[in-house]
Amino acid sequence: MSEETTLPPHVLVLFGATGDLARRKLFPGLYHLAEAGRLPESFAVIGSGRHSPGTDDEFRAKVRKGLEEFVDDLDDAVAGPLLERISFQVSDSDDGKDLAKAVKAAEKDLEPQEGQEVHRLLYLSVPPGAMRPMISMLGREGLTERARLVCEKPFGTDLESSRALDATIKDVVDEAQVFRIDHFLGKEAVQNILAVRFANGLFESAWNRDHIESVQIDVPEELTVEGRGSFYESTGCFRDMVNTHLCQVLGFVAMEPPVHLTADALRNEKAKVFEAMKPIDPSRVVLGQYEGYREEEGVDPRSSVETFAALEVFIETQRWQGVPFYLRTGKALAETRRTVTITFRTPPMGMFGHHADGPNELVLELTDDARMSLELHTKRPGPVMDIARTTMELDLATKDPADEPLEAYERLLLDVMRGDQTLFTRSDEVDRLWCLVDPVLSDPPPIHRYAKGSWGPREARGLPGQRGWRLDGVDA
Ligand code: BG6
Repeated sequence: MSEETTLPPHVLVLFGATGDLARRKLFPGLYHLAEAGRLPESFAVIGSGRHSPGTDDEFRAKVRKGLEEFVDDLDDAVAGPLLERISFQVSDSDDGKDLAKAVKAAEKDLEPQEGQEVHRLLYLSVPPGAMRPMISMLGREGLTERARLVCEKPFGTDLESSRALDATIKDVVDEAQVFRIDHFLGKEAVQNILAVRFANGLFESAWNRDHIESVQIDVPEELTVEGRGSFYESTGCFRDMVNTHLCQVLGFVAMEPPVHLTADALRNEKAKVFEAMKPIDPSRVVLGQYEGYREEEGVDPRSSVETFAALEVFIETQRWQGVPFYLRTGKALAETRRTVTITFRTPPMGMFGHHADGPNELVLELTDDARMSLELHTKRPGPVMDIARTTMELDLATKDPADEPLEAYERLLLDVMRGDQTLFTRSDEVDRLWCLVDPVLSDPPPIHRYAKGSWGPREARGLPGQRGWRLDGVDA
């Protein structure tokens, strides 16, 4: 859809409007969209939740405080008019009558032109347990008409609860109205994986088992679960990161080229990757918990919840058969990185009289200013033909001042309003991913303790074989 398309009038209902995600990402995201003139001309935002944050003015003051904290150089000319359109209406899963009235009143106030429909964007940033009853309430109150339903992960906590959630969703809306957010897909750098792969003959022709030896998707985080202890106790690292963010990145790395970049074509190819993925073998999974986790607020002092996971997965397709994918993520680790490493097979090096000290590696850093490097073998300067390993660094931004990168949530909010599901996960993908991780969740391997600031439990070091993890090799 073209950028210039005018968006229809919208009423956004934000459940969890006083929560952390709304403060850190959603309201700042709306601000940036307003600043760039990307919001509909006519819209209203209704925050909702069980507890009132006070009057509308008091709520707006709280939103404003969040904006001051999370937006650089806040401009009153943008923030003022945005805040004026924001209000709050108490609701809960048993009683959504007042909310329904507030939504209808807001729609009337928007004064849509003749023949124009007001779209509803219903954003559920609520814990997994609250999701189903809220969705049923939205259906009962008729709020799902003309609506797009945005659900935050995790989508259930296991296969059974995910299927129950999906059934509830399908009771009230069609799949075409559902936008399951995995914010990693909203990141420019993650979308860049597709551009690097499919727009460069150099890589696409080598992107298969004949040339690639292994792949690592490594997302260590320095932050602890501080402040999110009770959420983590009910989720754990595996559900929070592995069958969501890491697998979605894997889907982009491993998918066949879609015929078009449309929601159906792209998601079909991603779903095929998950279909071809072997159920995860618990003996090839290492789980860990950082020392001090049990003392965090909201955490059981005897908790056996994992804060670290490392695993090996295989995809049984012609392209990937026999190529191991290593996934790793965890909290309280040595560094915060989001690194994809593609390790290429080494050609015979006999003519140089020795073996290479490491294979070619293509390293994608999925940061906001996406970068990529390529580890190559070149001639060491000097009188003999000696081979050295050198690094070619590439900045993936185009340096065009007209470029306007979007933060993940900004992009995804915009896509919901545009009705574009390409970067959202589909129900069959979610279901399959739960099936794949089920052997680990129902029979988890032992949890190993690790020191804060380390690279996780010792037991995970050798999982990818002798060369280990690229990140600890380089930076530990
Ligand atoms: C969230 C997880 O979805 O993603 C967090 O719940 C994690 O535990 C976060 O820290 C990482 O996202 P980002 O965008 O900071 O890399």
